Amino acid sequence: MKNLLEVKNLCVDYITFTGAIRAVDDVSFCIPENSIFGLAGESGCGKSTIAYAMMRLHRPPAIISGGNILFEGKDVIDFSDEELRKFRWKDTSMVFQSAMNCLNPVKTIEYQFWDIFQAHNAVSSREESIEKSQELLRIVDIPIERLFDYPHQFSGGMRQRVVIAMALALKPKLLIMDEPTTALDVVVQREILQKVYDLKELFGFSVLFITHDLSLMVEFCDQIGVMYSGKLVEVANAKTILREPKHPYTYGLGNSFPTLRGEMQEMKGIPGTPVDLSNLPNGCRFAERCFKSSELCKKQEPALKQQQDNTFTACHMPMNTSSEEDHKEVAHV
Ligand SMILES: Nc1ncnc2c1ncn2[C@@H]1O[C@H](COP(=O)(O)OP(=O)(O)OP(=O)(O)O)[C@@H](O)[C@H]1O
Ligand SMILES: [Mg+2]
Repeated sequence: MKNLLEVKNLCVDYITFTGAIRAVDDVSFCIPENSIFGLAGESGCGKSTIAYAMMRLHRPPAIISGGNILFEGKDVIDFSDEELRKFRWKDTSMVFQSAMNCLNPVKTIEYQFWDIFQAHNAVSSREESIEKSQELLRIVDIPIERLFDYPHQFSGGMRQRVVIAMALALKPKLLIMDEPTTALDVVVQREILQKVYDLKELFGFSVLFITHDLSLMVEFCDQIGVMYSGKLVEVANAKTILREPKHPYTYGLGNSFPTLRGEMQEMKGIPGTPVDLSNLPNGCRFAERCFKSSELCKKQEPALKQQQDNTFTACHMPMNTSSEEDHKEVAHV
């Protein structure tokens, strides 16, 4: 499948009074056309920083200090203001971590759709804008007469669906969703993601999906990238990543949430805390917390390497779920 987006060796720094903090360090991944790529990892590992940098929406003190963000082969980092403007709603749109609060409280939903359409010359009249907006509301299962309501007249789940409809207004090729449903209950969360999945099947766009909820991620994504302290440590197929984790951190992450089926198991979690980005160790950033850590891990930082089964792992001691010892550890995932 053709790649829609290729992130290559991306580095993003936050410039602080005490020096630069590299929140995203040498991260590379690809999102093929018509596919969903998930980014997982603990709070603060750099997921949102990547999402903002991809749309060049990062603000000082953040700077992109290296790498490329290729969208259909063209580097977003080199885009002119005009190219960026088109890229931002037409090619790529984003549903933010606090999406429900990004609607303007004093304008009707109708006006806010109109604002998007006219800014991009996508309609020739207000009537056409209303027609297109109603079509989008229908797609996300909101009664079309609600178009003339204000955001406070909607429930949280409905507002979230309105935001998704707006994000899809110009039929983007890539939809970035950063924790789009965190504030909603689990049933509504699943419904909304199912909707996005169906729309993706219908329109054929790609999605970058960021969430803390690994079970949702496994269900809806094609591929998952796992981040740890600014580094991408594993990229694998969503169907196998938790059953056959290669990186001990992925294994730990999978162990930190309850399984839906099988016997009740004690959740283990991951001992320790992430490294201080302003005081990085020489070796692997996860070594202090890792049950497989060796002397080499403490000395040398592992690079992200392709494994035999086409997964990518940054680990000197990758797990092998068919080995007796590792199998015992992962048996209940
Ligand atoms: N304005 C800032 N100045 C300095 N450091 C920052 C700034 N914003 C973010 N960071 C640091 O960058 C790192 C990555 O933050 P980011 O928001 O990308 O994490 P995240 O993975 O999205 O976390 P979460 O899951 O909580 O949303 C964190 O260590 C954070 O402390
Ligand atoms: Mg975030």
